[in-house]
Amino acid sequence: MVIGPQQRVIAIDGPAGAGKSTIAKALSARLGMKYLDTGAMYRAVTFEAMLRDLDLDDSDHIAQLAIDCDLHVGLDRVIINGHDVTTAIRQTDVTANVSKVASNSGVRKEMRIRQQEWATTHGGGVIEGRDISTVVFPEAILKVFLTASPHIRAQRRVDQNGGNVFEIAAAIEQRDLIDSTRSDSPLAESSDSIVIDTGNRSIDEVVDELETMFVLRMIDGNS
Ligand code: CDP
Repeated sequence: MVIGPQQRVIAIDGPAGAGKSTIAKALSARLGMKYLDTGAMYRAVTFEAMLRDLDLDDSDHIAQLAIDCDLHVGLDRVIINGHDVTTAIRQTDVTANVSKVASNSGVRKEMRIRQQEWATTHGGGVIEGRDISTVVFPEAILKVFLTASPHIRAQRRVDQNGGNVFEIAAAIEQRDLIDSTRSDSPLAESSDSIVIDTGNRSIDEVVDELETMFVLRMIDGNS
């Protein structure tokens, strides 16, 4: 069997603060594979819509913005329409609005196409998001769903960015609710995902386990 770029994917999904970025980046470095943060794509479109003062409920207009935008999401930089928005897309107001923009089916369709093209260009990769296992790369050779308790997830965000743990927990809960109840590609485990609670595991331990699984599956797939 030949493993194509849409299969040579480690798909990492899960809610905010579950450890997706840390684990995905570490895995991509270990395996020499490219890394894509799909959340940064939705954040960049949200930022651009806010910058232009667009009505986020105007789905057609927001979808057109997503289709027309020149978007580059790299390991360290996010650029949209020529502007470096790496830091700006993490601001509280973007975080508060991103789930609304991400529930727009026109935006999702465009991002999905770009994510699949990205994998083709790079021969697969480690890709994190909410719908990577279920919708974008249903044939991924390794699918992972990361979780942790709401308190641990909120505390991690406070450790990273500061803020009040109760306020951050409430904001995360609100975003999780919108992400997991939207009609188009909601945040959900895939039936064939490996579910890992990162609350009581070290990063290295999880990365070791996933690295081994990926290598074994690649050997199996190539034989
Ligand atoms: O880093 P954090 O977990 O806070 O969020 P993120 O990965 O940057 O994603 C931000 C938002 O983008 C999520 O809350 C979702 O609304 C949306 N998203 C999505 O809908 N689908 C994806 N594949 C990735 C992110």
